[in-house]
Amino acid sequence: MARPAVARLDPLAVAPRPPAAMQGKSDYFDVPNKRRDLTRDAASTAGTLQVGMPVLFIDRKGRIYYDHLKEDGITNCGGKQVFHEELIGQQDGLDIKSRQGPRYRVFSASYRDHATRMSRHAQIIHPKDAAVIVAWSDLKEGARVVEGGLGSGALATAILRAIGSSGHLTTYELRQEPMNLARKNIRALIDDANNHEVRLENIYEGIHEQELDSIILDVPEPWLVVEHAEGALRSGGFFAAYVPTALQMQQVVLALESTYRFSLIESLEIILRNWHVTGRSLRPDHRMMGHTGFLVFARRKARVLPQN
Ligand SMILES: C[S@@+](CC[C@H](N)C(=O)[O-])C[C@H]1O[C@@H](n2cnc3c(N)ncnc32)[C@H](O)[C@@H]1O
Repeated sequence: MARPAVARLDPLAVAPRPPAAMQGKSDYFDVPNKRRDLTRDAASTAGTLQVGMPVLFIDRKGRIYYDHLKEDGITNCGGKQVFHEELIGQQDGLDIKSRQGPRYRVFSASYRDHATRMSRHAQIIHPKDAAVIVAWSDLKEGARVVEGGLGSGALATAILRAIGSSGHLTTYELRQEPMNLARKNIRALIDDANNHEVRLENIYEGIHEQELDSIILDVPEPWLVVEHAEGALRSGGFFAAYVPTALQMQQVVLALESTYRFSLIESLEIILRNWHVTGRSLRPDHRMMGHTGFLVFARRKARVLPQN
């Protein structure tokens, strides 16, 4: 079958500068991948496999291989080679035959597929927890959010997808090292992350932004951010913290309570259990994820005291 043509851009084209307000910040995701803008965003390419996409190759035994499609790429699936040029422009979810014989089903990777397989700099927030953070923090198109701890960029990707291009995310990150990897991970699912700014700063020392809709923390001592969150959130704004241990959870809750500025304080854990379902058997899977972390949520009370 003939492949649809893939638009190509001048490789020497100069990337656009960030808006003036963003220039001079510690780091800025300012180089949209122009080729993918054209190949992946157009409605005509919806449902097709495109250069730059993270994809899954699934063999007959259900084993999954993960890779990013490149024009001249080759994925080694258990010793058999799959050539990307045979996939680009083809339908998402198709079955293909490797040149050495075995067949593979190829799907574009979802957020969940990508986040759980992406190269990691630090432990990521698992998609089951990220999904609840997005819903409980009421993240929506246009929201202004601050995140503490970039890490591998898994949570930042979930936030950026929820707030859309009209929202804005500022991530505070202590170290320079995670930057390149996180940027690559985020770009795999989001072509244009111009609304994501990374500040190389310690979030325990303060938050510059004001009137935020949401603050989301994945740093070791989130209770040290509570006082700053109190000042940076809008009335009714959302606070969320992810912590690996119950003692940390308690410390965040006590810090939130001690300010008298937060309400609807909620602590929880997401337990995900898959089931084995066939005509003859109906039972939970033998294996499940034992523990990821705890989540603490709260809402900022109104700033203005009621009259009278
Ligand atoms: C566990 S990782 C975050 C993972 C990320 N949520 C994800 O899903 O990929 C924690 C990150 O917080 C950063 N960090 C630790 N303390 C910090 C602080 N005080 N201010 C800003 N970043 C901090 C670390 O350098 C690390 O990159």
